[in-house]
This record gives sequence, structure tokens and C-alpha cells, in this order.
Amino acid sequence: MTETTAPALHRGEPQGEPLLHADSLVAGYVPGVNILNECSLVLHPGELVGIIGPNGAGKSTLLKALFGLVGIRSGTLTLQGESITNLRADVLVQRGVGFVPQTNNVFPSLTIEENLQMGVYQTPHKFADRLEVVLALFPELTHRRKQRAGALSGGERQMVAMARALMPEPSVLLLDEPSAGLSPVRQDEAFLRTRRINKAGVSVVIVEQNARRALQICDRAYVLDQGRNAYSGPGRELMHDPKVIELYLGTLATDVDAARDAERTGPEDSPAA
Ligand SMILES: Nc1ncnc2c1ncn2[C@@H]1O[C@H](COP(=O)(O)OP(=O)(O)O)[C@@H](O)[C@H]1O
Ligand SMILES: [Mg+2]
Repeated sequence: MTETTAPALHRGEPQGEPLLHADSLVAGYVPGVNILNECSLVLHPGELVGIIGPNGAGKSTLLKALFGLVGIRSGTLTLQGESITNLRADVLVQRGVGFVPQTNNVFPSLTIEENLQMGVYQTPHKFADRLEVVLALFPELTHRRKQRAGALSGGERQMVAMARALMPEPSVLLLDEPSAGLSPVRQDEAFLRTRRINKAGVSVVIVEQNARRALQICDRAYVLDQGRNAYSGPGRELMHDPKVIELYLGTLATDVDAARDAERTGPEDSPAA
């Protein structure tokens, strides 16, 4: 049973107080049009939580609402039990939330190092210490620090964007499709890097188009559909849930099997009309 009836909404969640708790968020861009329709999510300390769902489901809108970039019309958002509903993004950064948007996530005319400096513009005295920590997570960037971010490949830019978001030492990192537009090898690297960041102690919410891959790496996941919670549960459970497969992961393989079985049995086995 993975359908999100009320008690099962956050299936598989650990005990204790969530780090981040979005409860019944309603949000949207245009007055009178809600994109999120009572959407909920919890993230516990140390968790890697995925959000999957069809295009236009509201995944990016949810992340933006969590980061103060889309107004929350009703519902509540708390961080460590304290309300952060409708706080501004720069205040959320001070409170320990980091966000990597899907696109336009680096300053192309600045060098890698300057991009990382922007990450701590509110606390510049932290730069040297944090740079060391962050470059240890992204050793590939160390020798390229003086290069302009605009000259980098998609995969490298994604690295810079993640590194920048990690500079202020967030406790929560929100990632919007870090694998989008990358080659399969670079996608794998993006997933491994996300895992590495999580293992280093950062709790992560990751939105992903590549649903199967996301379900493989995350502790728990939420399936969003039309701005609502559709399913939730441990990643590996959702990956094998027939309903989730049918509706969100693609049924091509099952369809092929069914067609082959139908050919074998023939029409005489069909129920009489
Ligand atoms: N800036 C915006 N202004 C108005 N509508 C938007 C804006 N961004 C997204 N939307 C609409 O919100 C809905 C959800 O979009 P989005 O959150 O980007 O979905 P997803 O990330 O799941 O693909 C879509 O119908 C989209 O057209
Ligand atoms: Mg999106």
C-alpha cells in the first residue's frame, strides 16, 4: 500500500522531529491559479529525499516554495520546528538552506573561485575555510579555480553550482534536476556527487527527471502529480511498486511482455463478447 492516504503520507520516514517540514503547501505564480495543491514533504536529518513526477507536476515550484522564491498561499513550512513560511531566500541561506536551480545557476563571467565567493557573500570571513572543505568534495575544480565559469562544460558548471550552494555550510540542500542535460556518464557523476554530499552530512532534497536513478539513490521519495502528493515511500520500494511503474516509470517493458503473451494464447482465449 503506497497510496498516500493521510497516515501514509510520509511512508518510511525516520522517528524524531523533521529538519524540514512542508505541510499542505498551496502556491502558484498567477493570482487565482494554484500550482501546488496542498503538497507536503518532510526531510529528516541526514536523509536524501527524492521528488519525481511528470513534467509540469510542480516539482520545481515546490523547491522554489521551499526556498522562498514562490509565495506560499496556505500551509506551513518549518525548519527545525521553527516557521520559515514565506521567509526570503537570503534569510533562508542564513538559516542553513541552500538551493541549486536547474538552469542559470552559475555567474558565467566570473571565475570558479569568484562564483564560490558569491556563495558566502553574507559571511566573507568564512571563505578560506569553506573553500578548502568544498574543494575537497570537488577536487576536479581545484586546479581550474581561475577559469571563467562560462567556459565550462555542463557537468562542470553543475559542479560549480553545487559547490557554491555548499559554501555557506547549509544543513539542507535543495537540488533541481542536477543531471539534466548531461551525458549518461556525467549524469552518473552527478548522482554520485549528490550521494557524497549527503554522506558528508548535508540533508538533501533532489528533484529528478531520471526517476529510476533517483529512486535508486534516495532514502525516500515523493511522487508529485498535478501539484499533489501521489505516492511516497522508500526509494527502492517505489521503484518496484506496480502502480508507480505503470503511472510514472514507464510500462514499455510490461507492454512488450503482454503483447507477446497475447500472441501466444491467441484470440480463442479471450473472454466471449
Ligand atoms: N514562472 C512561472 N510563471 C507561471 N507559471 C509557471 C512558472 N513556472 C512554472 N509555471 C507553471 O507551473 C506548473 C508547474 O511547473 P514546474 O513546477 O516547473 O513543474 P516541473 O518542475 O514538475 O516540471 C506548470 O504548469 C508551469 O507551466
Ligand atoms: Mg522542473
